[in-house]
Amino acid sequence: MIIGINMKIDPWSSTTYQDYTRLRDEFGIEEFSEELWKDLPNPHKLLRRGVVFGHRGFQLIKNSVEKKKPWAILTGLMPSGKMHLGHKMVIDEVIYYQSIGADIFIAVADIEAFATRGYTLEETKHFALTEYIPNYIAMGLKPEKCHIYFQSKHQEVKDLAYILGKKINWSQMTATYGFNGSSNMTHIFSPLVQAGDILHVQLEKFGGVRPTLVPVGVDQDPHIRLSRDIAQAHRLYNVTVTKDDKIGVFVKVDENVEKLLDGAEKTLYSLGFKKLKRITEYKAVYIKDATEEDIPLIDETFAKNEPKQGGYGFIQPSATFHRFITGLTGEKMSSSKPESAIFLSDMPKDASKKIMNAKTGGAVTLEEQKKNGGKPNECVVYELFLYHLIEDDKELQEIYQSCVNGKRMCGHCKKHAAELMGKMLMGLQEKRKNAKNKIEQYLS
Ligand code: TRP
Ligand code: SF4
Repeated sequence: MIIGINMKIDPWSSTTYQDYTRLRDEFGIEEFSEELWKDLPNPHKLLRRGVVFGHRGFQLIKNSVEKKKPWAILTGLMPSGKMHLGHKMVIDEVIYYQSIGADIFIAVADIEAFATRGYTLEETKHFALTEYIPNYIAMGLKPEKCHIYFQSKHQEVKDLAYILGKKINWSQMTATYGFNGSSNMTHIFSPLVQAGDILHVQLEKFGGVRPTLVPVGVDQDPHIRLSRDIAQAHRLYNVTVTKDDKIGVFVKVDENVEKLLDGAEKTLYSLGFKKLKRITEYKAVYIKDATEEDIPLIDETFAKNEPKQGGYGFIQPSATFHRFITGLTGEKMSSSKPESAIFLSDMPKDASKKIMNAKTGGAVTLEEQKKNGGKPNECVVYELFLYHLIEDDKELQEIYQSCVNGKRMCGHCKKHAAELMGKMLMGLQEKRKNAKNKIEQYLS
């Protein structure tokens, strides 16, 4: 289904989104352009290949990596059922970001799974401990600078959920999520718990105010917008361009305004700005020698000071959005349709069977395919290569070309994919055996 004008992104529906460009433009998600990732160390294949297609605020992350300043990753998993290739992508990204210096936090969304999928907390715990976490470890997640926690057991996250909710009203919740009179309260509350997940990493105890990246599928964008709005709503200062093109720092609260303006002037001088104009009745300090490009740095500096001034100082969390992998049957890859999904615990022969039955972009007859070529862009087998099986871009390019040229036939191609998949699955299976003993090191 193609999402239409005025439709909501519903994080709890089973829709797949086909038209990512439109989705991006409609919701004000920015394009994840090459210039954002090309200078990162060894950019990951999902970044290079356009699987990650959109972002909000990634510049802050790029900047932190370049300046070697601290930053964090927070993502969450819905512990329901078995882990499949669609779930693997976020963790591939997380492991990459861990390798380039991010602090890692992973929320097991047991409260959300309880609220929206009807599992008990015990069941979700079982899924997390026997499926998801062992797979993460098998995939290569390191215990250093890594915290995996359960929402229902994390006091600060739950406290934040309550506290943050004060700045969000019912109209905003219904506009964002389509809740209505028959929505249950736990479900209604679960986006606030997710905002708690996303923002708690900036509390002093968990590393303090710093840029945070939330890598997710695009269905999670409503939660991202909510968290960004909440972060901004809790700031003491707003650093912005005014309508008449001035750069100003505005105090957003009504208490201690004088003191906060004094603090603002001090901070701005320490950053090297000299031409300041304070207008107390506007609760503002204008910076005549700043340009729009200075705003992110100014804002970050103010945010980092805010905890000392009685605020939270949350920096708006950044996010990247990845496309969904298509199921082998051509629909969404989903645990509830085992033939559509390859599970990380599948035996190679079962995975192979599913791949051999997959919906390809091949022509109806061999002859026709030799003549006109196949359509890798419409082929789920090609997606397997692109998302999961081929590291080397040149090799992938060759597969693409030989398909388009009619030199590669689907039968052979599927066998190739099945073979690589088999190797990957065997590798994971082997590593999963040890992983179960290591889980304790990761749980905080
Ligand atoms: N809502 C997410 C999902 O449906 C899970 C989740 C919970 C999450 N907390 C999070 C994702 C924080 C990203 C960040 O899969
Ligand atoms: Fe897909 Fe391979 Fe067939 Fe091309 S040759 S359509 S990539 S299965």
